[in-house]
Amino acid sequence: MTARTPVHVPEDEMRAQHLCEARVAAMSDRPQTYHVVTYGCQMNAHDSEKLAGMLEAMGLTAAPRREEADFVIFNTCCVRDNAERRALGNVTWLKEIRKLRPEMMIAVCGCMIQEPGMAERILKQYPFVDLAFGTANLHRFPSLLERVLTEHVRVVSVEGDDLIAERVPVRRLRREAAYLTIMYGCDNFCSYCIVPYVRGRERSRRMDDILREAEALRDTGVQEIMLLGQNVNSYRGEDGADFPSLLREIDRLGIRRIRFMTSHPKDLSDGLIAAMAECGHVLPQFHLPVQAGNDEILRRMNRRYTRAQYLDRVRRLREAVPGIGLTTDIIVGFPGETEEQFQDTLSLVDEVGYDSAFTFIYSPRTGTAAAKMPDQVPAEVSAERIQRLIALQEKRQREAMARFVGQTEEVLVEGLSRRSGDAVSGKGGHGISITFPGNGADVGRVIPVRVTGQKNNTLTAERLEAEK
Ligand code: SAH
Ligand code: SF4
Ligand code: F3S
Repeated sequence: MTARTPVHVPEDEMRAQHLCEARVAAMSDRPQTYHVVTYGCQMNAHDSEKLAGMLEAMGLTAAPRREEADFVIFNTCCVRDNAERRALGNVTWLKEIRKLRPEMMIAVCGCMIQEPGMAERILKQYPFVDLAFGTANLHRFPSLLERVLTEHVRVVSVEGDDLIAERVPVRRLRREAAYLTIMYGCDNFCSYCIVPYVRGRERSRRMDDILREAEALRDTGVQEIMLLGQNVNSYRGEDGADFPSLLREIDRLGIRRIRFMTSHPKDLSDGLIAAMAECGHVLPQFHLPVQAGNDEILRRMNRRYTRAQYLDRVRRLREAVPGIGLTTDIIVGFPGETEEQFQDTLSLVDEVGYDSAFTFIYSPRTGTAAAKMPDQVPAEVSAERIQRLIALQEKRQREAMARFVGQTEEVLVEGLSRRSGDAVSGKGGHGISITFPGNGADVGRVIPVRVTGQKNNTLTAERLEAEK
């Protein structure tokens, strides 16, 4: 067996979980309503849809507000310190609510629970938490909850074997757009990052399972799917199928819009660039996290590409897909980062001209290589650097977005615009938010528009007559 062989949770175990769901549903004294609170990335957002799916299979219904729910579950993130603090702060806040509603049950799950010692710490410090489990045991949630309900004990479960669980029920938040996981875990071990430790080894789903799920989504009328993985371009199907071939297969199913995230620049192959250009349903957008613009910092981050290689890939992407929407992630204040090295990040941002960038101050994570590196950058230096980076990015973003004015775009409408009652907004094919006149009947539909102007980080547009 090679490291890449996908290993699945045995059918019997999944059947046992489904039986648990039915038993909990039949209990008369179980919680009736639930609320899921989600932190972190799209992977977590999709895990929350699975938690909701399992809870509904156990007979619970969604409560719009957490204060009103009988069962509240926090799906946590630990990628940066502030993500962790936010989650714990909110768990503590619920403690007060539980004083008023003693029957309320509280569970904490997700990446943070997968950190060594964290689950035990939570149960000790937060005596009002009934259940804590990690990402490795997500599919066992029904049996864990059943134990809490029948044995009246507090349950912790973190150990797992990096398996792939198929047939977990999913309650999707949106009708028109859906997440579809193609691979789990990460083997890249970027020196600052905790994800490989909390999400386990990289493993890819079977191509057949992915295609079947995509077809089912298409048949329910989904307009857009987002393929998910920490590093989608290292996807490896059971017969060696790679990400470009998977993309081509999905493109054939006739789903209107296909997006994916995240891609690692080191694995961005010419084959993928060609597939992007040729697949009619794959949207012209690419999230390509650069993290830093200096070679020495990239080397110590263990990113395994140079600035020149990254810029070359950007150039090739733009040649193959003219006007492509490019976005990125950047970390400032990595250990040892000098002002000069930071200047290289600024100059890269200036050179690329991203449509948007997520910028983060480096946050040391226990257990990662970078946390032990000398010369941690003082907080005030990082804070000042990120301000300069944001200012430059905002300027470049305004300039980059001007290319859309006068162009047509197709917008998948997400909802009514927050600012105005007679406008709707959604994402265009290049990934940018676009607002235009409309009403509730447009939600969930793809509508062609002509871009008329730009406002901060969104575009404004007018409707085009013909709808496809
Ligand atoms: N797998 C994806 C995303 C990982 S987490 C990828 O490789 O791109 C999302 C982003 O969080 C990363 O791209 C990085 O910019 C940021 N990040 C991860 N660890 C961090 C840390 N310790 N401190 C600050 N930012 C971090
Ligand atoms: Fe973290 Fe790097 Fe993996 Fe992304 S590729 S999840 S940044 S280790
Ligand atoms: Fe956070 Fe886990 Fe995603 S640590 S960023 S929720 S993979």
